[in-house]
Amino acid sequence: MKIKCIGILTSGGDAPGMNAAIRAITRSAIYNGIRVKGIYRGYKGLMMGEIEEFHTESVSNIIQHGGTILKSARCQEFHTQEGRQKAYTTLRSEGIDALVVCGGDGTFTGARLFAQEFDFPIIGVPCTIDNDLSGTDFTIGYDTALNTIVDAVDKIKDTANSHERLFFIEVMGRDAGYLALNGAIATGAEAAIIPEIETGIDQLEAFISRGFRKSKNSSIVLVAESDITGGAIGVAERLKKEHPEYEARITILGHIQRGGSPTAADRILASRLGAAAIDALIDDQRNIMVGVVNDRVVYVPFNKAIKHEKKMDTSLLSVLKVVSN
Ligand code: F6P
Repeated sequence: MKIKCIGILTSGGDAPGMNAAIRAITRSAIYNGIRVKGIYRGYKGLMMGEIEEFHTESVSNIIQHGGTILKSARCQEFHTQEGRQKAYTTLRSEGIDALVVCGGDGTFTGARLFAQEFDFPIIGVPCTIDNDLSGTDFTIGYDTALNTIVDAVDKIKDTANSHERLFFIEVMGRDAGYLALNGAIATGAEAAIIPEIETGIDQLEAFISRGFRKSKNSSIVLVAESDITGGAIGVAERLKKEHPEYEARITILGHIQRGGSPTAADRILASRLGAAAIDALIDDQRNIMVGVVNDRVVYVPFNKAIKHEKKMDTSLLSVLKVVSN
């Protein structure tokens, strides 16, 4: 089937670079003679018909901005059959014959269900700061979030050194340790506590005392937000029970990690993957995510992209251990 009109939406947690992706998808579609409709507020807006025709100039001057001009939402109703039926009715009435969805795990889980139920072509563009999708080396937004973490931790290190303190710094990543682990390597932290690897209290104490011995003044530990790690507060409480001699300070970086102007790497990745999404549709690809592996664009079936399958590169832990020694 020749695609004549696509809809674009952004869904789930926003990620810096989403705007660059919207721009690339829009421009690439128009370049190939395909009409574009912007769908506001993710699947929720799709069900409600919050849709606008997009032109080349609709996406002017947005590449440098964080957030998403299309807004985003997490939508429970799309998890129901009725919700998805509503969405399908909107697509038919708008004359949209394919969707490009920008988001992460939850977005693609919904897309996969919808595509199967209605035999509707959907292409996913991986946008999440968590970098937790399988089948792509990087997701859009991850590099910017990592740089935000580096910037923040560098600042905390100044005060940690001055006061000779131990800091637990919690970073995002909902059950994925990429931001914590690579953030720790990039900032010269003593350790990363991540959900993928269990860290005992003795091990943690060893990291911290090594940090103090090494610099004689401070120690920094990055903790991935997760029920498994207990987050920075949980880790600090565990340590205090066994080692009351440590008085820790806690910083939760929070949503600052999701905002800001995307890095060059994220803008380029978003531009490549946005264009690749349209190439994929023209190539008759259906229900796949576009990704990048070894710097080449790849097509990954949704069920392979969805999380819990992405393997953490544990050699990075050894790197952290060696360089923080
Ligand atoms: O998935 C992206 C993410 O930023 C996670 O790292 C974090 O756990 C979650 O979203 C926070 O979601 P919300 O903005 O809905 O609180």
